[in-house]
Amino acid sequence: MAIQWFPGHMHTTRLGLVKRLKTGIDVVIELLDARLPGASANPLLAQLTAGKPALKLLNKQDLADPALTAAWLAHYNAQPETRAIALDAGEAAPAARLIPACRALAPLRGGMVKPLRVLVCGIPNVGKSTLVNTLMRRKATKTGDEAGITRTEQALLLASDLTLFDTPGMLWPRISVEHSGYHLAASGAIGRNAYDEQEVATALLERLQARYAGLLAARYKLPDPAALAALPPDAMLELVAKQRGLVQAGGRLNLQKAAEVVLNDFRAGTLGRITLETPEEHMRWTAEAAAQDALRARRKKGGTKDEGADEAEPAA
Ligand code: G4P
Repeated sequence: MAIQWFPGHMHTTRLGLVKRLKTGIDVVIELLDARLPGASANPLLAQLTAGKPALKLLNKQDLADPALTAAWLAHYNAQPETRAIALDAGEAAPAARLIPACRALAPLRGGMVKPLRVLVCGIPNVGKSTLVNTLMRRKATKTGDEAGITRTEQALLLASDLTLFDTPGMLWPRISVEHSGYHLAASGAIGRNAYDEQEVATALLERLQARYAGLLAARYKLPDPAALAALPPDAMLELVAKQRGLVQAGGRLNLQKAAEVVLNDFRAGTLGRITLETPEEHMRWTAEAAAQDALRARRKKGGTKDEGADEAEPAA
């Protein structure tokens, strides 16, 4: 499933971001979902902000697997001009960690003559409003919109010499890494009408079977985790429906309801602390998707029809 999802307001956000970058930005903060750090990293943003010091905030760490959060932090902290911090909505004073991290990334900026200009970006539903609200209540003053930039961008004075420009949530035009599409849909970042819930829940169950069979067994009162790990994912969704007594008229299992149960449980964290991807997995999937895209481009150039490629990209 390659998801194509780039509604008009996201195009406007992209233009606003380009304009803001032209005015001079010293550090780019990208909020990532700690349960899917690779999938929630916006490649379009990476292109637009290439070369800028970057602070990666792994938000919702309270829902993520701590061992894998540590692996992702190490992955990002090993990259040049990049720092990474794990956060969650319950954090009392995120500014206490954000401000020093931004200053460390742009040591030549700061003070009244050269105030530090920080851009905050992230996909929808990653927790940007929650973070900004916490920052505004405790540390910052809302200074309102600026002319020439999208109406919803806001500038917050996080310290006397540090302005934070908050941008609306943005996805990218085509999510070519199949796992990323599933992970983003499972997290709730993509509108419901752009994907099939049973397909996404089945893909989610497959990931959970591989690494968190024990959590699945506990939540849905399913048999032995070792046996679960070996089940085909379709059978897994049926098992959830059976265990929950989700049956429709005529006695057939209600797989749609079972899919909704699984997705809601994952989103709310009721299954337990879960991370859907490691840095290595994400890099491998990205390389595979790039190779497929290159092959598709070559076939297109050569005039050969790429069977199945077109119908794999539903319009939003
Ligand atoms: P956005 O601006 O990036 O679109 O995201 P927003 O802050 O609206 O957050 C989306 C959902 O994620 C909200 O839940 C919010 O409470 C939750 N959230 C944000 N940060 C964290 C976090 O660190 N940990 C956890 N567990 N949840 C977080 P919601 O159910 O959509 O709304 P609400 O009922 O909480 O208001």
